[in-house]
Amino acid sequence: MTRNHMTSSFIASRNAPAKATDLHAKASPDFAAKLAETRALLQRAAAEFSPVTQASSLGAEDVVITHLINHLQLDIPVFVLETGALHTETLALLERTQAHSRAPINVFRPVQESVIQFVRDQGQDAIYQSIELRKQCCGVRKMEPLARALQGQRAWITGLRQEQSTARAEVPLLDTSEEATKNLAKFNPLAKWTWGDVWHYIAENQVDYNPLHDQFFPSIGCAPCTRAISLGEEFRAGRWWWEDEAAKECGLHVKA
Ligand code: ADX
Ligand code: SF4
Repeated sequence: MTRNHMTSSFIASRNAPAKATDLHAKASPDFAAKLAETRALLQRAAAEFSPVTQASSLGAEDVVITHLINHLQLDIPVFVLETGALHTETLALLERTQAHSRAPINVFRPVQESVIQFVRDQGQDAIYQSIELRKQCCGVRKMEPLARALQGQRAWITGLRQEQSTARAEVPLLDTSEEATKNLAKFNPLAKWTWGDVWHYIAENQVDYNPLHDQFFPSIGCAPCTRAISLGEEFRAGRWWWEDEAAKECGLHVKA
């Protein structure tokens, strides 16, 4: 790096928040092979597993998958579980995605009465009081809408990656095991991608992403249950941070 380069990047870092693309984009040596495998898997999902749909949280992994689906012009609609507790940044990205995506973006929301009843019976802060109450909230806001989103589907596509947590270390590219899928095949086309690969793809293809990623939110869920992480913390440290590591899943991914 030249002195000039060092000076200008130092000035840039003093004046503007760091972009996630600048911080993280770094392709693995075998990125081209991984990308080819991912593309082939998505093509196979569309050709052999229709009807198939992508589950998108609008996080970094999911915007990559939606971009690939659109680029390959695959007949794969996308669904977003809009829990009623997402960050404004995520809602804004949802609107932009709906406006620009070739693939339809279907939004599933919780049953309003169930949310009202949960908050009335358990209180606004119930999710922090016990794992059981937190999981009840996930049940109402995520699991019930998920069941509707997956009704009639032969397969779904997620952005799970092996690197995300120890619990996800064995995530396969295609999961057809009955235990994991309840007869619904599950594609995890980025299973082998690193965080650097994800951001390399986003940077190369100028994919629109959630600006919360620029504020040290690697993993983004509902606003009350997501915080930024600090240097050295694990990837999912900002999710349900008040709970034990083992509890940190909302039920969307049984085995993951
Ligand atoms: S979670 O189980 O802890 O919430 P995570 O945020 O890591 O999951 O996301 C893993 C994958 O689950 C995403 O790549 C996406 O496929 C799916 N997913 C998570 N949240 C949503 C959501 N709100 N809507 C649709 N799919 C989601
Ligand atoms: Fe409720 Fe938090 Fe689960 Fe969202 S992640 S559904 S706010 S408990």
